[in-house]
Amino acid sequence: RKDGALQGCLSAAAVSLPLLPGTPATAFWAYNDSVPGPAIELSEGETLALRFDNRLPQPTTVHWHGLPIPADQDGNPHDPVLPGQGRDYRFSLPTGSAGSYWYHPHPHGHTAEQVYRGLAGVFVVRGRDDPLAHLPERWLVLSDLKLGEDGKIAANSDADKMDGREGQFVLVNGAWHPRLELGRGERQRWRIWNATSARVLKLALPAHEVWLVGTDGGLIEKPRRVESLVLPPGARAELAVTGRFAAGKPAGLVALPYARGKMMGPEQDKALPLLDIEAGSAAVTASLPASLRRIDPLPKPSVTRRVVFSEDMANSAAMFLINGKTFDMDRMDFTGKVGAVEEWEVDNRADMDHPFHLHGTQFQVTERHDGKGWRREPYLAWRDVVNVPPAQKVRLRFRQDMPGPRMFHCHILEHEEAGMMGTLDVR
Ligand code: C2O
Ligand code: CU
Ligand code: CU
Repeated sequence: RKDGALQGCLSAAAVSLPLLPGTPATAFWAYNDSVPGPAIELSEGETLALRFDNRLPQPTTVHWHGLPIPADQDGNPHDPVLPGQGRDYRFSLPTGSAGSYWYHPHPHGHTAEQVYRGLAGVFVVRGRDDPLAHLPERWLVLSDLKLGEDGKIAANSDADKMDGREGQFVLVNGAWHPRLELGRGERQRWRIWNATSARVLKLALPAHEVWLVGTDGGLIEKPRRVESLVLPPGARAELAVTGRFAAGKPAGLVALPYARGKMMGPEQDKALPLLDIEAGSAAVTASLPASLRRIDPLPKPSVTRRVVFSEDMANSAAMFLINGKTFDMDRMDFTGKVGAVEEWEVDNRADMDHPFHLHGTQFQVTERHDGKGWRREPYLAWRDVVNVPPAQKVRLRFRQDMPGPRMFHCHILEHEEAGMMGTLDVR
C-alpha cells in the first residue's frame, strides 16, 4: 500500500485444500490458493492496482461485482484473459462507494463452473465517516459446496442447470458450520455475502436482536429491526447483531425454509443451520445511531425500459431468456446515456425466482408488484441485486456514470450461463 493505492497480485489456479475436518483435501480452483479468495479492503478515494494471472485451463476474467468502475476494468465476458496469460486491473473507488462487494469470474460459458470450483472473494470499501466504525466486525461469506460420490467437486447435473446448483454443504468463509463468539449483550456488525450459485437464503438469528443497517451498496438511512432477511444469490447485507441468548431458541445463524419455484429438485423445507454461535462473556451493548446516512432518491427517469424474464423449456438450447432472447456477446440490447436516470421494470413471467443484477452501478428499488398491485418500497437502499419471484415485478432506478458495455443478468449463475443475460451499452 502506498500513496493511496493498494498494489498486489492475484492469480487463479488449481489448488488442493482440506476444507471439511477429517476429510481428504478437495481440489479447488482458487484465488491466491485460498477459498474464499483474499479479502480486499480499501477506503473511498483509494486506487487498486492488481496484476492478475490466469493459471486455469480455461479463459477467465475478474468481475468486481457492484463496484462503480470503468467497464474495461470490470471483467466483462468480452474481455477474457486466456489460460497462461495475465492482465492488469486498475481502478479508483469514488466517494460514496463504501459498501460490501465481491469479485468473481465472468467468462462467457465458464462463470458457473469457475465460481462453484471456489473462485470468489470479498471486497470491502470503507467510508470516510463511518457511523458504525465502533462496532466489532464479522464477515461471513456464504457459498455452496457440492461433492460427488468420489469426494471431488461434482460437475453440474441437468437438474443443476435448470434449478441452479445447490450443494450438500453451505460453507461460511470456506468452512462447514464454523463457530463464532458473540458476547451476551454485545453488539457486532456483520457483513454477509450470498456467494452461492443459486440459493435464496432466508436468514435468521432466532435468539438475537437483529437490525438491518446496510445493503449491497452500503448503509441504509436508518437501522430497521428484522426477524429474517431474504438474501438472493449475489446480494449482501450488513446487520447489527446483539447477543441475546434465550433458552429454547437456537443460538446460531440459520436459513429458514424458502421455496424458489425449483423445477427439478426438492425445495428447502427445513431450517438449515449455517453457523454456530457461542455465548461469550457479558458486554455493554454499543450504541446504534438512529440515522446512518442520507440517501437521496433518484429523480424522475428520462428513459424507461422493460426486462422480461421467461423460460422456454421446449428449447433446450435457450431455456432462460430476457425479452425473448438468449445472450449474444455481439448484440447490444439497449443503448443508454452517461448520467441519465433510467427506470427499469423487471417482470418475471417464469416459474422460478430470478435475482436481477446490473453491473457498474447501484440502483434504488422504487416499487414492487406482488401479482395484485404495486407497492412502494418502504425504505431507500442502494442495491445491485434484487430478487424477483414468479409473477412479480420490480421497478428500479439507476444512473450509469461511465461509458461502456454493462451486463445485466439473473444471478443464478446457471441461468446466466444458459442465456439469461443482456448488455446495456452506455455512451
Ligand atoms: Cu456477480 Cu455479472 O455478476
Ligand atoms: Cu456483477
Ligand atoms: Cu434465474
